[in-house]
Amino acid sequence: MNQFVVVANRLPVDAGPGGLVSALQPIARSSGGAWVGWTGNPDERPEPFEHEGVHIQPVELTGEDVDHYYEGQSNSTIWPLFHDAVEPPVHRRAWRVAYEAVNRRFAEATASVAAEGATVWVHDYQLLLVPGMLRRARPDLRIGFFLHIPFPPVELFMQLPRRTEFVRGLLGADLVGFQQPLAAQNFMRLTTQLLGLHPQGERVAYEGRTVTARAFPISIDVAEIEGLAADPEVQRDAAQLRKDLGGDRRLLLLGVDRLDYTKGIDQRIEAYGELLADGTISNDEAVLVQVATPSRMRVAQYQQLRERVEREVGRINGEFGDVGRVPLHYLFQSRTRAELVALYLAADIMLVTPLRDGMNLVAKEYVAARRDEGGALVLSEFTGAASELDDAFLVNPYDVDDLKRGIVAAIATGPEELTARMRRMRERVRAHDVDRWARDFLDVLG
Ligand code: ADP
Ligand code: F6P
Repeated sequence: MNQFVVVANRLPVDAGPGGLVSALQPIARSSGGAWVGWTGNPDERPEPFEHEGVHIQPVELTGEDVDHYYEGQSNSTIWPLFHDAVEPPVHRRAWRVAYEAVNRRFAEATASVAAEGATVWVHDYQLLLVPGMLRRARPDLRIGFFLHIPFPPVELFMQLPRRTEFVRGLLGADLVGFQQPLAAQNFMRLTTQLLGLHPQGERVAYEGRTVTARAFPISIDVAEIEGLAADPEVQRDAAQLRKDLGGDRRLLLLGVDRLDYTKGIDQRIEAYGELLADGTISNDEAVLVQVATPSRMRVAQYQQLRERVEREVGRINGEFGDVGRVPLHYLFQSRTRAELVALYLAADIMLVTPLRDGMNLVAKEYVAARRDEGGALVLSEFTGAASELDDAFLVNPYDVDDLKRGIVAAIATGPEELTARMRRMRERVRAHDVDRWARDFLDVLG
């Protein structure tokens, strides 16, 4: 039995990249609690085991659960709807049924490992119904919920079939955390609109309890990134990367994302292509490295994105490349954290241009890696990170001209101003790292 339990769709074991596991792994490790989640493979449920000091409680998903709960309701309905519907959300009854059944399985697994009066922290959009289910089964628990992705405007949320059930599900928690204050406010407005509740600021009375909704902007493990950035081997790799990409090239631009249509990868590549076409930059002086990690590849919109991106990469390299020297290196691969940090150190300009993103940890990792106070960050206004990192070159990724303007501004800015900007961004990230985020949340949860 455990006094502290993390509940998330994925286990921190062989997980693909993603903000959630990156952020929570260090916390679970230091608290020595339990983690309830899915291994990432269908029809697999290993016996509970210990991993880096954490008790791992696997939840099994069948092949059909993966289709309906994970790829369907989670990643074809809720994910696009909560990201401003940048791709049209798809609604299917069978997916909703599976989502509810899988959420119940997670709630039961959690109830079986949580000690009397334990603190349970449920995470993200795959598990919106778990707090309510857990509350009914285990009223003794202290339940927190954190949403890692954006919470949509009220008008968009209202499109969701069975929307009231999702609001009730979240109200099962004592504390509901969001990335942005506006998200918490949107949620509170929905409690009035759908359930006739009367929130008072951040609090609302519901079924004889008080539920608090508040913003807790997530962050990164700064010490881990700084440690890698200080490692002589990582620094050597960064220098080698510059050589490999053409030592005489002045400018290295970098993008690092899961291959996801919310990340604005195609818009970024389009802007880069136009800068090459209009002669603002040339293949002799600049190179863009785009790491796009495979993600949710069985979902149609992700396959379509991959095709769009790969076509555009081919076009740009065909049009502007030379033998032995291309302007765009596209890596449809995962990379270790040390390799990512070497890329961050090598990059003059980091391009983080999502159409919508709850936070974006890559932006914060880049800043944390730049102990030399070098480099420049071009950052979409539509990321949670933009509210903290306003010394970045902020851009509207829907406007190719504005994207180009941001990139050109970053190129044209002198080293003194770049250093001043990076120094201020580093102060912010170092003062608000992931430990502080977790402590703030857990202190309020009580
Ligand atoms: P999301 O949660 O939507 O994936 P974030 O930017 O918030 O986006 O978090 C992504 C996390 O995954 C970061 O910690 C980043 O370092 C990691 N990551 C992204 N791409 C890769 C990759 N190719 N290899 C390894 N880790 C990656
Ligand atoms: O919050 C972002 C997030 O969706 C996490 O919940 C998730 O673990 C990560 O991105 C990666 O996505 P997936 O688990 O679908 O591979």
